[in-house]
Amino acid sequence: MSKLLIDGGRILGGEAKIQGSKNSALPILAASLLSKGESVFFDCPFLSDIDTSVKILRYLGCSVKRSGHTLIVDTKGLNRDDIPENMMRLMRSSIIYAGALLAATGKARLTFPGGCEIGPRPIDLHISSLKRLGAEITERHGELTFKAPKGLKGAHIALSFPSVGATENIIIAASKANGTTVITNAAREPEITDLADYLNACGASVHGAGEGTVIIDGRENLRPANHSIIPDRIVAATLMSASAVTGSEILLDGVIKSHLDAIIPCFEQAGCKVEFEKQKMKIRAPQKLKSLGLIRTTPFPGFPTDAQAPLMAVAAVSEGITVFSENIFESRYKHVGEFIRLGADIKVEGKVAVVDGVKKLYSAPLCAKDLRGSAALAVAALAAEGTTEIDTTEYLERGYEDLEVVLSSLGASVKKV
Ligand code: UD1
Repeated sequence: MSKLLIDGGRILGGEAKIQGSKNSALPILAASLLSKGESVFFDCPFLSDIDTSVKILRYLGCSVKRSGHTLIVDTKGLNRDDIPENMMRLMRSSIIYAGALLAATGKARLTFPGGCEIGPRPIDLHISSLKRLGAEITERHGELTFKAPKGLKGAHIALSFPSVGATENIIIAASKANGTTVITNAAREPEITDLADYLNACGASVHGAGEGTVIIDGRENLRPANHSIIPDRIVAATLMSASAVTGSEILLDGVIKSHLDAIIPCFEQAGCKVEFEKQKMKIRAPQKLKSLGLIRTTPFPGFPTDAQAPLMAVAAVSEGITVFSENIFESRYKHVGEFIRLGADIKVEGKVAVVDGVKKLYSAPLCAKDLRGSAALAVAALAAEGTTEIDTTEYLERGYEDLEVVLSSLGASVKKV
């Protein structure tokens, strides 16, 4: 088990490159199963969730080679349709292999997926959508079997909630289905568009990704393609938070402004200046931050639930009251108890958290409880007086590539032990 030791109070400066997006890379790696041969993926970050995906692909018979941030996936050897429970449990995103294996082999045998415990994370929308596409699905002793021996059929699928994962599963499965699939109330996250871009490069026909209605014309054969993963907007929001809590100016390279449209105004409200030049963002934080007002997490293009915890670190040291309303996941305030140990003034009632900014945070031993929460603790520790020790950083390694190296390169005092 590794720990982070963070000496707070340093001013940051300099430039950091934003890593490729985990949430884009994972479904895209699964989607590589749809075409026979070698796909090349650039900007794949070094993360334990990506390692899990590589393990799954290799278990299925594919060859995967890494050269720096490039992953080369050759699916010619695909010879299985099952994923063992120990791999399924490692991350929520493993459920995307249901649609990918169904489309590639006509069958998938999986178990319920794992992932961070941030509230109930049912897969009912994935199941009902794949059923609409003609899959026969049975569950026995926790094992899920998906079958479509004659192939999947296009269908109209109206999602009751714009689930990111369910939208991805449908797009992947429908890309090789017979006929046209129309998804209404589809998730509009940039990661959906990235997946569609990769699939279209493979010869699929996915239209409307990034909008509420997505139309997929199924194709019998897809070809492998090369693809660059988009930058990670949540990592960008985390580093913006690091700049804000330390009153610093930093430059972030590889940021797509439209992906951060709901986040930037929160920093501006706090008094930060945010400027763009192409894909570079400069953020300059004031010495005294103002409250961030009201932040409601909603599906894209609204404020992302994944950025709630890092921005709470900013709210914790901003003057005045910031109110968070978490509308996507039920238990996504696990970091609050740890923030309070640092001296933050936060009250939670159901899905609402009220943060009364304090003048100073003080170091304390902390325990990370989920991925984004652990990054938020690191951000808060940058603003705390003294040395903060954060336990269980394996959460961090699921989504942040060498955060300690990135923060150190910006001038923070961060050590991994
Ligand atoms: C993805 C992201 C995660 C992000 C989330 C919301 C990946 C790997 N993860 O997760 O970082 O926090 O989007 O932006 O991309 N739901 C159901 N039934 C389902 C599916 C979802 O009720 O079948 C509910 C969930 O419990 C949750 C909400 O819908 O309350 C959002 O989930 P979803 O959009 O599916 O998130 P994920 O794809 O799991």
